[in-house]
Amino acid sequence: MCGIVGYVGEREAQPVLINCLKRLEYRGYDSCGIALLGRGTEVYKGAVRIETLERNLQPNDSRTGIGHTRWATHGKPSESNAHPHTDCSGKVAVVHNGVIDNYLQLREQLTSEGHTFRSETDTEVIPHLIEKYYRGNLEQAVSRAIVDITGAYSLIAIHADRKELIVARKESPLIIGIGDKENLVASDVPAVLDYTDRVMYLEDGDIGVITKNDVKFTRNGKKVERAEHRVPWSIEEAQKAGYDHFMIKEIHEQPRVIRNTFAGHISALEPEIDLGIRRDLDFSNILILACGTSYHAALVGKHVIERLAQIPVRVDIASEFNYSDTVLGKTWVIVITQSGETADSMRALKKAKELGCHTLVITNVVGSSATRIGDDVLYIKAGPEISVAATKSFIAQLVMLYLLAMARASVDVRSRGSLIAELRQLPNKVHEILDREGEIAERGKHLAEHENVFFVARGINFPVALEGALKMKEISYIHAEGYAAGELKHGPFALLTPDTPVIAITARDNTYETLLVNIKEIKARESPVIAVAEEGDDEIEKYVDFVIRVPKVDPMFSPVVNSIALQLLAYYTAKERGCSIDTPRNLAKSVTVE
Ligand code: M6R
Repeated sequence: MCGIVGYVGEREAQPVLINCLKRLEYRGYDSCGIALLGRGTEVYKGAVRIETLERNLQPNDSRTGIGHTRWATHGKPSESNAHPHTDCSGKVAVVHNGVIDNYLQLREQLTSEGHTFRSETDTEVIPHLIEKYYRGNLEQAVSRAIVDITGAYSLIAIHADRKELIVARKESPLIIGIGDKENLVASDVPAVLDYTDRVMYLEDGDIGVITKNDVKFTRNGKKVERAEHRVPWSIEEAQKAGYDHFMIKEIHEQPRVIRNTFAGHISALEPEIDLGIRRDLDFSNILILACGTSYHAALVGKHVIERLAQIPVRVDIASEFNYSDTVLGKTWVIVITQSGETADSMRALKKAKELGCHTLVITNVVGSSATRIGDDVLYIKAGPEISVAATKSFIAQLVMLYLLAMARASVDVRSRGSLIAELRQLPNKVHEILDREGEIAERGKHLAEHENVFFVARGINFPVALEGALKMKEISYIHAEGYAAGELKHGPFALLTPDTPVIAITARDNTYETLLVNIKEIKARESPVIAVAEEGDDEIEKYVDFVIRVPKVDPMFSPVVNSIALQLLAYYTAKERGCSIDTPRNLAKSVTVE
């Protein structure tokens, strides 16, 4: 749950490391630090944001170093708990992302052997183990140290006597950026894009020796080659491009993202969908596993797949599936994860494989951990999502699930043709919502005054209510709850007051009339109601205080337009409240701990 970087080359390492860390801040930002090789190993760190660390640094001409931005798991954010961590001699420095399960036992053993610990972290055992095994060869010392470790890690180690970075990876992401007379290491691709678009992905079990002119990998003591990839994203795509926040930039990218997601899967001539995954699987039901926003996408997917393909679908929160004694028969397991690194989802994916299920991963990140485990992979092609709050990746996940359902749909060619035509229209419909940004921003300003808000819906839009509430709470810090509209009267009615706005998400499908009844019930409790409703629905005006208009689409696609309206609402509410929108408190983009 942290970001790590490394640099070795001809430039001054310090500004490169700081720049790379800034691009990884979405992975954690409660403390940070760097270590530079010069006359010894110099460490600068603190429980501060990267900008503050940068301001406090003196110029330094070191050409080799490592850096870390932290999201605390073991020990509070503090200078001593911030990475890099060092050994007793101060010659070895390590940055680490992941969790060392047996660190207490290792710490006890190392302490009894004379090592002194200065932090509460699990990571600190690593430099001490390296010190214990160092005999003049850092690669060998790291290789030996990780034999003692159980858990997950990506790490970079340096030693004062050697101009090299030693990297290792197990169940935690790590990439190498290949440059000219310089090489970089990072947890994620956007960190290195200012310097290179050539990257290599480490596999689990890899150990690498990175010098300014060379990159070498071994696995189980044997040399291995890792392919070099060109990153298809430009640096502009990974930056704010003039928007105030990544979140609003990413919301505006959605028309293009939708086109990217379906491009290559829809034939230009025939009403056919080709996902390029196995079609001959023998299964009678589907289980979808995911967390957070991806879980909400899965819930929409259930409606769409059951409706179009008439296959029973169960959706489980990945972390809960991990404790269930469920018996899976002929089940096709789909894991949805934007990052491809979420620890709960990874564990669920592995469990599904152990249970003998064929697995499909739907993800955004090429080369991520999930893609190496799943039997099939579908990329949503949303591009880098920097804002902690998922927006464009959610919409791309929905589009992929529509494609999946349509590919398996038991409908005639004409119906499939009209569904595809509707899907092709979605980018234009999204532009229409974005054109209404100003009106939604005004509504956000009003909502910003409240401390509690409900989101309600029925049917295929119930997950949209959950997602609307998640977006609102995570970036505006307003207490927001998503509810199936029919459930309010079973308890939450007790919380309705004139100061508790309710957002009702509507679609002109078989849920509409009953939802109107629910809205009347809410109004009778004097809560203000804001409806999200399609153009031309004049009926709704009679029952609510305000209407956020979305374009008319087939109700099956209404989660796309409704969700985007709610993304904008959450964004402008949070902006009015002056919140840290792209990096909300206590959260991180990639949740690599269970
Ligand atoms: O990378 P994943 O899709 O597996 O992440 C799962 C959740 O952590 C994530 O969707 C989270 O809920 C969102 N960032 C919220 O906006």
